[in-house]
Parts: sequence; C-alpha cells; structure tokens
Amino acid sequence: MNGFINITEDIFYVGVNDRETAIFENLWPLDKGVSYNSYIIRDKKNVLVDTVKINKFSVFIEKIRNLLNGEDIDYLVINHMEPDHSGSIQEILEEFPNMKIIGNKKTFEFLNDLYGIQKNLYEVKDGDEIDLGEHKLKFYMTPMVHWPETMMTYETKSKILFTGDAFGGFGSLDGGIFDDEVNLDFFEDEIRRYYSNIVGKYSPMVQRALKKLSDVDIKIIAATHGPVWRKHPERIIEKYDRWSKYESEEGVVIIYGSMYGNTEKMADHLARKIAEQGIKNIKVINASKTHLSHIINEIWRFKGVMLGSCTYNTGLFPPMEEIVQWISHTGLKNRVLGIFGTYGWSGGGVSTIEKYAENFKWPIVNESVEAKLSAKEDDLKKLDELAKAMADAVKNN
Ligand code: FEO
Repeated sequence: MNGFINITEDIFYVGVNDRETAIFENLWPLDKGVSYNSYIIRDKKNVLVDTVKINKFSVFIEKIRNLLNGEDIDYLVINHMEPDHSGSIQEILEEFPNMKIIGNKKTFEFLNDLYGIQKNLYEVKDGDEIDLGEHKLKFYMTPMVHWPETMMTYETKSKILFTGDAFGGFGSLDGGIFDDEVNLDFFEDEIRRYYSNIVGKYSPMVQRALKKLSDVDIKIIAATHGPVWRKHPERIIEKYDRWSKYESEEGVVIIYGSMYGNTEKMADHLARKIAEQGIKNIKVINASKTHLSHIINEIWRFKGVMLGSCTYNTGLFPPMEEIVQWISHTGLKNRVLGIFGTYGWSGGGVSTIEKYAENFKWPIVNESVEAKLSAKEDDLKKLDELAKAMADAVKNN
C-alpha cells in the first residue's frame, strides 16, 4: 500500500491519522482520533501544502516518497503554523533542502520563533499568485482562523481551496476521506466540536474570512483535519457560516453539578417539563463526568442553556466553575439562560452562576430557582415556570 490518495489526477492526499494522542493541544479529548491532512500538487513545480504533527512524520514521509518517486518538492505552503501542521517542517526541509517555504510575514516570524528556520523563505501577501505550470496558486490572508498568520490557498485548475483549520474537525479518517465516503453526522458533530473548542472564539474573524471568499468559485474544500469536501462543499460552508454567526438549533442543554443527586433531580424535572412543552432536543449533562470539550459543543449547538449547581464551600461546584468561566471568555452570543441549584446553610452556587451570567449577556428566561438541600413542592412549581419559560424562549428559534 502506497498510502497517498488521488483528489484529482494530479493533486493528492498525503495526510495521516493520529489515534495515539489522547488530548489535542494537551487539552481536548481525541476519543475518535484526528487526522492531520496534507496535500501534494504535482506540476512543473511540485507543491506540498502543510505538514503533520511530528509524531506521525515517518508515515507522512513514506507517503511522500512513494508518490514523488525521487522527484523534488519545490514549494511548501504553510497555511497555519500550529505544530499539529508545522511540526514536520524541519524534517521535510532536511529531506528536500532546495524547497522554498511559502508563507506570509507572520508565518515566518512564527517559523523562526518555533523552529529557528530563517532560510528558503518565499513571502506572499493577500491576493498574490504563483504559477506552477498547469496550476496556479492564489493566497488569501485569513488571520485568526485560527492564529494570526493563518491563510488559505486556492488552486485555480481544479478550484480547490486549502483552508487550514477552517472547515476541519476531530475524528480520524478511517478509510473514507471524502464527504461522500464518510458518515457525515459523525463528522459534522466532530467539526462543530473542533469549531466550538478551537476556533469559535474567533467567530468574527471567521465571518470576515467567509466574506472575503464569497466570490471564489470553490469546487473542493481541503482542510487540515477531517474529510475533503468534494461533493457538497457548500454544506460545510453553510454550517461554518451559521456557527460563526452564533446561530443555533431548537433545543436545550441542561448542565448540572450535583454531589448527592438533589441538583440532578432538579435538572431531570426541568428536562421532563421542557419535553412536555414539545421540545425534542434536550440534553442533560453531568458536569462532573463530561469533559468541557463536549459541553462546549452542545452549548454551541442549542439555543437554550440551563446551568445548575449545588453549593460547595460557599461557592460554585468546581466542575461548573470551569464551564461558566469558559462561557464568560468565549463571546458566544444569541443563547438564552436558566439557572437553578441548591444550598445547605450558606448560598453560593446559584449566586455565583448569576454573577458570571452578567458577563454572558444572554437573556435570562425566568428567575433562578434555588432549593434548600433538595427541591420541595414550592421549588418544583418554580421549576415548572422556569421550564415553560425556557421552552417558549427556544421555540421557533
Ligand atoms: Fe489544526 Fe490550529 O491547528
């Protein structure tokens, strides 16, 4: 098996799967692995587009050698410098010492900062083009999608846009690499998780990039993670547009922190009452055993967010604290909020969520419900009202 895969007759996939790394950026779970996608354009000048994380270099270089069969790489395009893509540059440069590295001013700053590479540089600016023979490359600067140096590269013959992190997601490519070969429900969920965890904070810059690209005739999207979109590239562009405009689906995610199950009971009561109002997408999540990565993904998906916590040492239950801090920093908009929880002798759970919520700037659908140790008849009535208000707020979203 030679490992490379044709995207067109002269453009190839030479990416790799990583099923070893447990957490991406030493932070985000890779339960289903991840792919680091890289591509080769063969022409009078051969071009490599991005590299892979260093732990997979041996698989990567074997594919490249098999494909090129002794030919040189003339250019390496660096669309993004995060080490999951730039990690093998030094080794590739040793293998192909005549190769020119194409990037922008910021790319080269990071290339020096990370790897001490200062030679073989070919600087491009927004809109610059390079002729390879039959193919031409055009470069679009798309800063902060996901780092300041980020750019995209458009190949004019087959109309392929190499997009870096944009449109990419978690999940290894197990056999199928194209959107028409894989289970899209799985990948769309993992792409939203990547988007919300990694890129979402920069949503206004994603919108700016999408506007810049709106006149480009894109037939294929080739990102650095996840499937290559050759059948319906417009599908993932539309999703990205929605996510970066903070649009949401009708549904409610109820996240709770509970030591002995009393706050959890309140969450379940809310979920039942919301279901009785006709809302079908309801997720109840235990913050103590669900990684923040998956919680963020659900919050990015649904309109309604309910946060519930017991009181712990006169404050918020620690796993809930991580969540409210993240929401405070991310800038996510257009959600509606409900708050509930319990206390024993002092308050601190619900009131801390309320304090953080001032930063969210999300409308609060009804007053918070806080029960003493466990919800009684009166509390349940208040929860019913909160559930009804939440259901009304997310309907016809
Ligand atoms: Fe896939 Fe921002 O790196």
